[in-house]
Amino acid sequence: MEKREELFAGKAKSVYKTDSPDRFVLLFRDDTSAFDGEKIDQLNRKGMVNNKFNAFIMTKLEEAGIPTHFDRLLSDQECLVKKLDMIPVECVVRNIAAGSLCRRLGVEEGVDLNPPTFELFLKNDALHDPMINEYHCQSFGWATEEQLKEMKRLTFEVNTVLKALFDDAGMLLIDYKLEFGVCEGKIVLGDEFSPDGCRIWDKETRNKMDKDRFRQGLGNVIETYEEVGRRLGVEF
Ligand code: C5P
Repeated sequence: MEKREELFAGKAKSVYKTDSPDRFVLLFRDDTSAFDGEKIDQLNRKGMVNNKFNAFIMTKLEEAGIPTHFDRLLSDQECLVKKLDMIPVECVVRNIAAGSLCRRLGVEEGVDLNPPTFELFLKNDALHDPMINEYHCQSFGWATEEQLKEMKRLTFEVNTVLKALFDDAGMLLIDYKLEFGVCEGKIVLGDEFSPDGCRIWDKETRNKMDKDRFRQGLGNVIETYEEVGRRLGVEF
């Protein structure tokens, strides 16, 4: 497998073509950003930590029967993934109220959501990823009814697997964002799962162990990501 030209550079990852038409290389950079790129920094070891964290979680999800784009780790900061036709919609599940939900609905942070709630956002930086609903997806052709049904099913399936995984390691999975794509007609989990795209709190102290440490200037961002990984059994 040979890495070829860069296809796309996001805020924290870059995608490269390979000599295989159905594989891409994902490079996890040390860059980190929040608030639509308003707050930007470089954090030492972040690329390596998120790459290995993501590989660990994607492997757990595959083992639980959830199709993912993850193929294999290539290096500290790179992994090989299946090429997907990405659906420009972010699926969010929330087990406990935090973040934009609290701001939008005036709910207090930390309130249990029973049942967990599900939201859709359009992946569009210029529009600040607005919240959308299933009708928008269909009217504008972003995803079909059938695709949405499968995306929602898989997003909740991920919740079942990961809530238990984090709970067993003394942590609460507060919320997370997933992105999906299509590969050979099938909905497949893409992008990444790392402390950058979810909220994780310590079960006892309720200390924040995710990207909110960066967003809110709490410090020890990568040290805390590593602690989350260590508790789960990720080898860095
Ligand atoms: O900001 P908000 O509360 O809506 O985020 C919900 C969850 O989705 C959080 O875990 C956040 O880290 C994640 N998210 C993300 N990328 C975005 C928006 C949200 O990873 N563009």
